[in-house]
Amino acid sequence: MGDCCEEVVQFDLLDSSVKKIVNKAKAVREKAYCPYSKFAVGAAILCEDGAIIDGCNVENVSYGLTICAERSAICKAISQGQKIFKSIAICAEMKDKFVGPCGACRQVLAEFSLDMDIYLCKPNNEIVKTTVGKLLPLSFTPNWVSFSS
Ligand code: THU
Repeated sequence: MGDCCEEVVQFDLLDSSVKKIVNKAKAVREKAYCPYSKFAVGAAILCEDGAIIDGCNVENVSYGLTICAERSAICKAISQGQKIFKSIAICAEMKDKFVGPCGACRQVLAEFSLDMDIYLCKPNNEIVKTTVGKLLPLSFTPNWVSFSS
């Protein structure tokens, strides 16, 4: 990643609720359905009321239908009645790189909040923190659209 939109944070200094989403994002990678890429990704969202909802990537033989971990977590959260999200932790398998959300997932996260904190985690607990707004400048959000006449 670049060096403008993320800061390195220490796991030990994180709030306990953020530590929990980091740990969940790491753990749920075991559930990833990724027979094609073999690239397991986990995500966990911290909701406003303290609920934590995880998700993993779900691939498909029609590759383009793959659902990323972030969107899988968002869909689960919505179906559980949650829509105010404070933070999301994302963990992939790369040891030498932080894996950021793909463009489609950035847009889906932006639907709910540009202020949502994003914690990108390596398996060894190295973490960088950013936000949806920082990863999606000049974003197209619900504020731009009005369905009333
Ligand atoms: N993937 C995610 O789940 N989240 C990301 O942030 C990046 C990519 C998944 C999609 C696919 O199953 C695999 O990683 C390889 O692209």
